[in-house]
Amino acid sequence: MVSGIRGKLRKIETPFYLYDEQSILKNIAFLKDMFSECRVRLFYAVKANNAVSVLKLINQEGVGAEVVSPGEIFVSKKAGFQSSEILYNNVAKKKDEILYAIKKGVRYFNFEAIDQANLLEKCARKAKKKIKLFVRINPGIFSKTHSHLSTGAPLSKFGIEKKELKRVADLIKKFAYAELVGIHSHIGSQILAPAPFIRAAKNVMKIIDFFRKKQIEIRYINLGGGFGIPYRPGESRLDFVPIADAYRKLADSYGVSIFLEPGRCIVGEAGYIVTKVISIKKRNGVKLYIVDADMTENPRPAIYRAYHHIEPLFSKQGRKQKSRIAGSLCENSNEFGVYKLPSLKIGDMLLIHNSGAYTRTMGSNYNGRLLAPEYSVDRGRIRKIRSRQQFINLIENERY
Ligand SMILES: Cc1ncc(COP(=O)(O)O)c(C=O)c1O
Repeated sequence: MVSGIRGKLRKIETPFYLYDEQSILKNIAFLKDMFSECRVRLFYAVKANNAVSVLKLINQEGVGAEVVSPGEIFVSKKAGFQSSEILYNNVAKKKDEILYAIKKGVRYFNFEAIDQANLLEKCARKAKKKIKLFVRINPGIFSKTHSHLSTGAPLSKFGIEKKELKRVADLIKKFAYAELVGIHSHIGSQILAPAPFIRAAKNVMKIIDFFRKKQIEIRYINLGGGFGIPYRPGESRLDFVPIADAYRKLADSYGVSIFLEPGRCIVGEAGYIVTKVISIKKRNGVKLYIVDADMTENPRPAIYRAYHHIEPLFSKQGRKQKSRIAGSLCENSNEFGVYKLPSLKIGDMLLIHNSGAYTRTMGSNYNGRLLAPEYSVDRGRIRKIRSRQQFINLIENERY
């Protein structure tokens, strides 16, 4: 993607994010094509990347938004999402958050506990608005991913236990404003094997049967997100074919529509962080390059020991040798990893790949760092879509 624009990138002050619009569009088209026979509706997980320009692009493709907070509702609406295209999920929501969402016209909510179902009904009654509920189940599925990302595992905090579903069925019949219309199941993130997705789709069938026996009509199945992307060179791609097959069977045999909430697979590979070498030292004979991107721009290596491929922006001659790359701020975990790189000098620019998802949205001001600017590129044309923060942002809203 960057081949035609390397020269232009040299002129931009590092570190910065760069998102390739055509790559985002291609990823959406791929999902639509893959699931074209499964009665699927896509809701992009805003938590992956919430830049308004990115959201606008996604919205223009007819994709809805999956949000987890009033803040994400606010941003999604700024990007043009209609309230009817927004799903509001979260492990637990506060009364004010629910009332805010209802006031903004949001009508789809999930719940993961009996107390939350009661609160949703109470809020809808207060606002005198009908809302539609999805019960998030804990599917009890371990998916082969980082333990922090395996949200469908039996002991994870997510979802409601199956033994509580009878209480849900009894309770929901008493509601006047909140109607149970669907089941929600999200098994985790960055999953690269089809088996857990297929298991989750099968698992949900028994629950539809359960509710239908109780005369509760389930019309929608929200199977969440989680489609992984290859982070390491040569890593295999997720095979979507058997997943689409399982989803089609589910949609056909139960006459339900399927909602999906992909985040990472839409924006992850479309994004880069561009950084620069600012200091060079050696540790135990190994070159250690200190760069101007940190866990403040991409906390994934520090939190999940996640690997992000890094290469020089301009190809360099010379023998590749084992080298470490770390950011400068004060945390030992603030290190990207070990790479095979040609010899670099101070000022050399590097590309950190797969930086479009869960980077800027998880970024922070730790060590007084300013959140980095974002740029998008569309067929060679680069556009700044968010400026670097300024010092004033560091003390905003403080009283002193
Ligand atoms: C409920 C839910 N839906 C969707 C997603 C998006 O997941 P991903 O970005 O892996 O597709 C997440 C992220 O963890 C999630 O918790």
